[in-house]
Amino acid sequence: MYFSKSNAFSLIILAIIFISGTIDLGRLFNYAEQPVPDYIDRDNTPNFNRIDNETATLGRVLFYDKRLSANNTISCGTCHIQAFAFSDTAQLSVGLDGGLTGRHAMRIVNSRFAQERRFFWDERAQSLEEQSTMPIQDHVEMGFSGTDGQPDFNDLIDKLSDIPEYQTLFDFAFGDDNITEDRIQLALGQFMRSIQSFDSRFDQGLAMTNGNVNMGFPNFSDQENRGKALYLSPPGGGPTGGAGCNGCHRAPEFDIDPASGNNGVVGVVGNPDATDLIVTRAPNLRDLVNPQGQLNGPMMHTGGFNSLRMVIDHYNDVPLNPQIDPRLRGGPNGQGQNLNLSERQKNDLEAFLRTLTGSNIYENPMYSDPFEPDGTLTLLPLATSTSERFKLEDIQVYPNPAIDQITVTGLDHKPYFLQIFDLSGRLIIGQQAYPDHPIDVSRLTSGMHVISVYANDQQLIGRSRFLKR
Ligand code: HEC
Ligand code: HEC
Repeated sequence: MYFSKSNAFSLIILAIIFISGTIDLGRLFNYAEQPVPDYIDRDNTPNFNRIDNETATLGRVLFYDKRLSANNTISCGTCHIQAFAFSDTAQLSVGLDGGLTGRHAMRIVNSRFAQERRFFWDERAQSLEEQSTMPIQDHVEMGFSGTDGQPDFNDLIDKLSDIPEYQTLFDFAFGDDNITEDRIQLALGQFMRSIQSFDSRFDQGLAMTNGNVNMGFPNFSDQENRGKALYLSPPGGGPTGGAGCNGCHRAPEFDIDPASGNNGVVGVVGNPDATDLIVTRAPNLRDLVNPQGQLNGPMMHTGGFNSLRMVIDHYNDVPLNPQIDPRLRGGPNGQGQNLNLSERQKNDLEAFLRTLTGSNIYENPMYSDPFEPDGTLTLLPLATSTSERFKLEDIQVYPNPAIDQITVTGLDHKPYFLQIFDLSGRLIIGQQAYPDHPIDVSRLTSGMHVISVYANDQQLIGRSRFLKR
């Protein structure tokens, strides 16, 4: 174990704060419009699955629902634990019947902000959507495999269709309560893409240098700046060379280079004679350690690296194999890379890697388990039946069609709050407004929109549709 008693204790406290058991459908967390720093360019969101609050909320519930396993004991969150950057502290994770996974569970952090669209250590899932239902159908993990007497995915759909909360949530997200594998994938994909970490000391430093990653960061110690330079510079085979990490784990996203090959870690846990040569992906390198500085579970697909120093020592002297990435074949006689890092350089590099940790993902309730410890979930409904979400006409919008401004009538004289969505449910405008005062809608794209009006106590007053010209 990597965690002291006092930290285990503070995690228990955190866990208690996180437990809410309630989702207020009239007051969703803002998954759709989380701020993303200007210096972040890479984004693997497919056009058909941009994040909206309703669908991401459904994804959060699915992620933490143990009923997605055949015997109601395992959820995605069992192996991907928020307090550890959505990884597992165990080397291999335990599935539904006590079976072990073949590789270490991956952290799920900034999965969205990457050029690579494929997922899993060996990139066998072509997208995050495709990935998201594979654990459910895995024989060991969640057990809806349809083999060896296990139920199959249609059995899961039947099971979920009988749960009233899901009738509400699917209706809320998609406009009707039909449950399909496709919709489960969209929702889980949105929730996981929403898990973002940009509040690290690295991010603060990069903002201070206006996005210039090579400049010394004013908020860093000398040691951390030296470590950053080592990380960013290509290996030079000697004391002046860098460590070459950035070639594959590319700042400022710290996503894996899609062209990365194998990094020399080839073990198979529990089988010393076997090799696993097809691993070419790593999760994002942010949040390797938690805010207390402890490793978020062991590293690499083998979960065999219990400290950052072990990771650095590996790259300092890489063992060869036939599949190794050419960049790690750096030795003078074609042997594995030998960086010749000094003790001080290793410490510098480690100090830098520790600056990539934020606190938001560990604490933010929007990413937390919404279920009560006894497995119940309370949905606070909208004031109206959700199936009427797109049909309500009890408030009036004029002019309709709208050009630059709209006015909402049929309200009393108090200030109100409004949200305007496009027909895919994406929130475009959310603001305070006053009865009979015009609202600027010039930035909407043309087409049909839905407007929801809330009293300031968040009670839904009404919804209407209007056409933007
Ligand atoms: C029993 C433990 C376990 C459960 C349950 C589980 N996972 Fe995983 N997860 C893993 C392991 C192990 C890996 C790495 C497997 C591999 O690459 O071979 C992984 C990998 C992933 C990845 C790939 C991350 C990346 O960067 O490529 C995602 C995403 C993910 N899981 C999401 C989910 C979702 C969604 C669920 C629930 C539907 C889930 N997992 C359930 C253990 C688990
Ligand atoms: C040639 C590309 C390449 C280079 C260069 C490289 N890595 Fe990696 N890195 C990978 C791959 C691929 C993996 C996944 C390996 C595995 O688990 O088998 C990985 C895994 C890791 C992990 C484990 C992540 C996790 O979630 O378990 C860490 C930490 C890491 N690398 C840090 C570094 C550092 C620090 C450097 C520079 C000294 C570096 N890497 C250089 C490709 C590279």
